[in-house]
Amino acid sequence: MNFNLSFSFILPTRIEYGMGTHKRIPELVKGLGASKILIITDPGVSQLDWFTRVVGLLSSQKVTVEVFKGVEPNPKDRNVEEAATVAQRMGADCLLAIGGGSPIDCAKVAAILAVYGGKPRDYEDRSRIGPHPLPIIAIPTTAGTGSEVTFGAVITDTGAKFKFTVKSPSIAPKIALVDPELTLSMPPALTAATGMDALTHAIEAYTSKAAEPISDACALYAAELIATHLPQAVRDGKDLEARSAVLLGSLLAGIAFSHSDVGAVHCIAEALGGMYDIPHGICNAVCLPYVMEYCLEANRSRYARLARAMTPSPKEGIEAQRFTAEEAARIVRDLAQQVGLPEFRSFNVPVADFPLIAEKSSANGSNKDNIPVLTKEDYLRILEQLQMG
Ligand SMILES: [Fe+2]
Repeated sequence: MNFNLSFSFILPTRIEYGMGTHKRIPELVKGLGASKILIITDPGVSQLDWFTRVVGLLSSQKVTVEVFKGVEPNPKDRNVEEAATVAQRMGADCLLAIGGGSPIDCAKVAAILAVYGGKPRDYEDRSRIGPHPLPIIAIPTTAGTGSEVTFGAVITDTGAKFKFTVKSPSIAPKIALVDPELTLSMPPALTAATGMDALTHAIEAYTSKAAEPISDACALYAAELIATHLPQAVRDGKDLEARSAVLLGSLLAGIAFSHSDVGAVHCIAEALGGMYDIPHGICNAVCLPYVMEYCLEANRSRYARLARAMTPSPKEGIEAQRFTAEEAARIVRDLAQQVGLPEFRSFNVPVADFPLIAEKSSANGSNKDNIPVLTKEDYLRILEQLQMG
């Protein structure tokens, strides 16, 4: 260990994890002193039985509740503006974000707009974010983006077809209410894509130039939990043990990458998401093993350590087994196959667009933390490998 090590670690979010925790929403809202709640969600979640019960629970507590259910996948600038307008009109004093990463990210930027006005992209410059956006309670229903504990939100600029990031500790949710019960309704394909997104967060956080000891600890345990339990969560969505483990892994991976960084997989996924609106989790999941194979030579010991974390119940004692960086990529490739992900070619990305995708990927802010830092030519090579399958 490096004796000269120094780092700082802040987690502004109180985490409440456990089965049935969502029933505590009224108590937690009260604890924040809130009385006018805007729930931000998407059309799918708003139709679930437990969602209706949550709205009922809150309404019976003499608090004003409104629902904005217009968040789209890869949340758009227009969704943020609409949600902020509703929050302003009703004088909301708390946002309750319920859903996958899209509603939670949308709420983070709407929380700023509702108080300080302006357009979502204004706040790409973090110095413009005021100190007191509306407080957010985040309830994830996928496992996941980890957005319930991160400081950032990724929003699509629909005009420029570009994803931008708004980042500040002041937009981290005040409370993350993390309840495995709420992930039971995810269909297998969504479980697979969001679970692989969470695994990407863990792997990229651990192999990043920005990694530090606490993010390392979270990332390694997250990789272990997700790699060990995701196949079962996909096979049997009602398996609460598997669901709980993957959700906890997703939460820990969120803490890891918000204190470290993501890397080249997210650089490509954000370019693809902005240009073609392909769901974030699927982009990451499909690109992950290819990027690992491309980068592992520059970071062998960290990838080998990940291979050890992702190896479930070795028969002959874990220390006896030698792990290699290649093993980590192989485990992830096998996992991706087991959970049934689409081929990159099925995205129908025009080959003529590869240079632009590569350029956007290399210009992404997280590329500087990838080991190694990749050039536009590197990204082109990875895209060609993805296309070949
Ligand atoms: Fe992600």
